[in-house]
Amino acid sequence: MDKIVIEGGNRLVGEVTVSGAKNAVLPLMAASLLVDGWNTFSNVPRLRDIETFKVLLNHMGSEISADKKSGILKIRTRDVKRPEAPYEMVKTMRASVLVLGPLVSRFKRARVSLPGGCAIGARPIDLHLMGLKKMGAEVSIDHGYVTVSAEKLRGAKIYMDTTTVTGTENLMLAAVHAEGTTVLENAALEPEVVCLADALNMMGADITGAGTEVIRINGVRELKPVDLRVIPDRIEAGTFMVAAAMTRGNVLIKDCPYGSLDSLNIKLREAGAEVIEEENGVRVIGDYPIRSIDIKTLPHPGFPTDMQAQMTAMMSIASGLSVIKETVFENRFMHIGELKRMGADITIDGRCAIVRGVKSLGGAPLMATDLRASASLILAGLVAEGKTEVSRIYHLDRGYERIEEKLKGLGARIERVKE
Ligand code: UD1
Repeated sequence: MDKIVIEGGNRLVGEVTVSGAKNAVLPLMAASLLVDGWNTFSNVPRLRDIETFKVLLNHMGSEISADKKSGILKIRTRDVKRPEAPYEMVKTMRASVLVLGPLVSRFKRARVSLPGGCAIGARPIDLHLMGLKKMGAEVSIDHGYVTVSAEKLRGAKIYMDTTTVTGTENLMLAAVHAEGTTVLENAALEPEVVCLADALNMMGADITGAGTEVIRINGVRELKPVDLRVIPDRIEAGTFMVAAAMTRGNVLIKDCPYGSLDSLNIKLREAGAEVIEEENGVRVIGDYPIRSIDIKTLPHPGFPTDMQAQMTAMMSIASGLSVIKETVFENRFMHIGELKRMGADITIDGRCAIVRGVKSLGGAPLMATDLRASASLILAGLVAEGKTEVSRIYHLDRGYERIEEKLKGLGARIERVKE
């Protein structure tokens, strides 16, 4: 297993380019199940989650052609041999549940392992199933699997109690071929939901309102394949922005989706960093002392839960007291134990982390626990005194493309080594 070794203390300076968004590619791959013909996606990052989804689609019977160098991914699904997502795949990547909607929609049946709890919380899929039932599907659960079947899905009015990103995507995917109109209320507003709706509309779907709380989907009979460039990854971009601010750096983040990062831009400025939109990217200039700020995670356009861990790392070296409230997931503070081992002064009180900024962190051997937690430990390592070693970085490889190479390009002393 690989680990990342960092010698902290260098300012990050230079330019870095953001890769395509993992959370946009996965639903697009699921959407490819809806149509017979080659779908082409470009700007696809090389990530473990995308490899897992490819294995899943292959298992079901899709044909895949990928050119990793150019980031082009082609998928064709003429038929499915096995309309199912087995435990092994759902276990490593919850987003596998995204195949439910398109499979039922086109092939009338889907069997997907129930995700169960994951490291950051319970994360049920009850809202995905509630919506499918409203559309006329039969849902049954046996031996840890959920089976969903429907001869023909019907349009329905669906209200989701909690805003769910993949839930909104799954129901949108199910509804494109349904009979009549589906209305999704309290839909997720995330840019990745809009990217999926745009792709489906390019395929011939009739979707309006994506990016607002009410999405209307008029069912259509036929879809055609799509050729689409994946939007840049706002969380990867945000991670580099925090890295620049934390290291008192000066970094131009190219292909940065500035408009999708309003809440982060505002919070970074509050903390004392300069965030400047330039012609070909966003420049972040950090300055010390970092000012302590409070953060509350919320669904988009609120502060993203996927940036909470990175911001907690930044606040651990800020000038005062910061309260970080996690409202989206109930157990997303696993990085804090590791940050404390580096000397951070953080107390967890329910869903709040109370961070008292310290002068400096000390490098230490650390264990990554989930994707964004891993990123926060790397950021902490960049500013810590001495050597930090982050192991179990397979979490990091799920969602960051060559992060060590990109950081090295900005002047960080960072290496990936085989354990
Ligand atoms: C997606 C993102 C993930 C991000 C999260 C929140 C993908 C592949 N992943 O995950 O990176 O952290 O959004 O922005 O896009 N919930 C229910 N019932 C459901 C579904 C969700 O109660 O049926 C709850 C969850 O437990 C959680 C909240 O809703 O508390 C939000 O979860 P959700 O938006 O569904 O997260 P994901 O789509 O899994």
